[in-house]
Amino acid sequence: MNERSGQELYERIPTKVFEDAQLAVGQVARELADAIRKRQFEGNPFVLGLATGSTPVPLYRELVRLHREEGLSFANVTSFNLDEYFGIDSRHPESYYRFMREQLFDHIDMPEEQINIPQGSVEREEVFEACQAYEEKIAACGGIDVQILGIGRTGHIGFNEPGSGPNSRTRLVTLDRLTRLDAARDFQGEHNVPRYAVTMGVGTIMDARKVYLLAWGRSKAEVVKAAVEDAPVESLPASFLQAHKDVSFILDTASASELTRCKYPWLVGFPEWTPELVRKSVTHLSLKLGKPLLKLVDKDYQENGLSELVTEQGPAYGLNIRVFNEVQHTITGWPGGKPDADDTYRPERASPARKRVLVLSPEPQDDVLSMAATLSRLAAHGHELTVAYLTSGNLGVPDEEANWAADLMLEAGDSSLASEVLQELEAKGAFSEDSPKLRKFKSYIRRNEARASLEMCGLGKDCIRFLDLPFYENGRYRRFEIGEADVAAMRALIQAVKPHQIFVTGEAADPSSVQAKSFSVFEAAIRSLSEETWFEDCYVWLYRSDGREWEIHQVEMSVPCSPDEAKAKAQAIYQHRSQRSQLPVMNPEQSEAWEQAIQRNRETAALYDKLGLAEYEAIECFVRWNPRKGEGQ
Ligand code: GLP
Repeated sequence: MNERSGQELYERIPTKVFEDAQLAVGQVARELADAIRKRQFEGNPFVLGLATGSTPVPLYRELVRLHREEGLSFANVTSFNLDEYFGIDSRHPESYYRFMREQLFDHIDMPEEQINIPQGSVEREEVFEACQAYEEKIAACGGIDVQILGIGRTGHIGFNEPGSGPNSRTRLVTLDRLTRLDAARDFQGEHNVPRYAVTMGVGTIMDARKVYLLAWGRSKAEVVKAAVEDAPVESLPASFLQAHKDVSFILDTASASELTRCKYPWLVGFPEWTPELVRKSVTHLSLKLGKPLLKLVDKDYQENGLSELVTEQGPAYGLNIRVFNEVQHTITGWPGGKPDADDTYRPERASPARKRVLVLSPEPQDDVLSMAATLSRLAAHGHELTVAYLTSGNLGVPDEEANWAADLMLEAGDSSLASEVLQELEAKGAFSEDSPKLRKFKSYIRRNEARASLEMCGLGKDCIRFLDLPFYENGRYRRFEIGEADVAAMRALIQAVKPHQIFVTGEAADPSSVQAKSFSVFEAAIRSLSEETWFEDCYVWLYRSDGREWEIHQVEMSVPCSPDEAKAKAQAIYQHRSQRSQLPVMNPEQSEAWEQAIQRNRETAALYDKLGLAEYEAIECFVRWNPRKGEGQ
């Protein structure tokens, strides 16, 4: 079985995986440009179906670059957008009309009259006709040549939510709760997100002659896997694309990570058995069979696609012990290293006993959600801690919280700022954007929450820095752009601390997220500092900030917490008052952010237990970052 055919056994859609989104869009943009130019040469028009959301943004930037720098013209292109929120007009900052103007149309030469976007502001009685007219116009233009798609976490394409049939056409739809939660930050609160949208149907999309579906980041990994590998179902409309004659899924490594070829490469061919892959396959086997590591036998390996491994590196017992020891050695109650101890098999060095530790938190609360117990340990062990909040997080503060705080200030004494804030909140329509003054005020709220939260971890105010990076202060969700000023501020901070340890997050996160942008700023800063001598003695630890945990085989340091420490962690998270019930969390039906965070740590502890290691209450996990590879080692 060669690699290709092994893959094909699982994948029902042609899928290309790129190192990162930038490389991926480079290829799609080139193919698009060639197709558009070919039609130009023939004197024919080209019909392009376009999508919104953060996913196509890098593609649009690349198309704009091709237009500006390589003379690509869009004069012969007619476009049809997939969808639009219903009930908002085109001037709304979150309307797809405005989005498309800002991201693409304002920067290329596509004639205005060739741009088509479903209208969100028609009267309800007229929607049906408007939708039919949209379909007719697509047909009159000869149909869509190439359709660009993203994918929602519900598996939707356009706004075809679960339940949309394969033959559905352009129509009015009700938005799914998860979709509305995902959009809540853009709209500054779930209650502001429209309940309805107009979207091309699955059938309309299937009629396009060629389809590219793009997806980036780990948050899309499960849904991408289901669409590519599982049987097509109405509960996952993107899976209907399996029946399309010319469709390509274009992925980065993070969004492809759940595909069988990435997750269980031994099932699709003969992989290179790196120590990490051995750890992965053996821990997977143990969890799959519900047998502790040390009880696995050769037959278990042979019957589960791991014959090659056990033949080459077995017998089973030797493999089991090797992996057991590796996992065991990740566990430490000394995240800053245990002074005067033999550190040969410990994740951190014994010396210096007192380390300078820099914790980078993209938004207030990322730090405590993932590593409150570790922070408490580091503080208790006397390390010199600096916790830096990279952005103020003010976009995540609901108006009600600002109202609450301004009322309090007003009652406590005269405050012109409080009065101004209250006036602005009063005058503010549901959809208008916050003024710089209101954003500043909201950032004070988050600063105070962050201070209170760290206090619960035993950290004083003097160890806190607020960087207020410009990319965030001058931007909106999903449209952040980092610049030199961001990198300079980060560089100055790291340079000033000269840390022995850095804790950071955002690697492989959704590229448009605050966390991913913050990580890019960090990477750029580190690039210019990596030659410095102190950096040779610096360990960079990655924590997760997307509500998930590292997979067990990736983990290189696991810090157990006692039941009391787990409770204290919940208290620390709880201090982030403005964020209670705010986050578009993994499972919105489930529970509050602090409960989910602790639950995640309990689940990790349960996995260690199942593997046959010690049984702890909860565990926080970290992976070491290798700056040269730019990924977890
Ligand atoms: C919205 C859009 C979809 C898009 C999805 C994912 O629901 N209607 O077309 O694919 O969001 O958004 P993002 O690309 O920001 O993850």
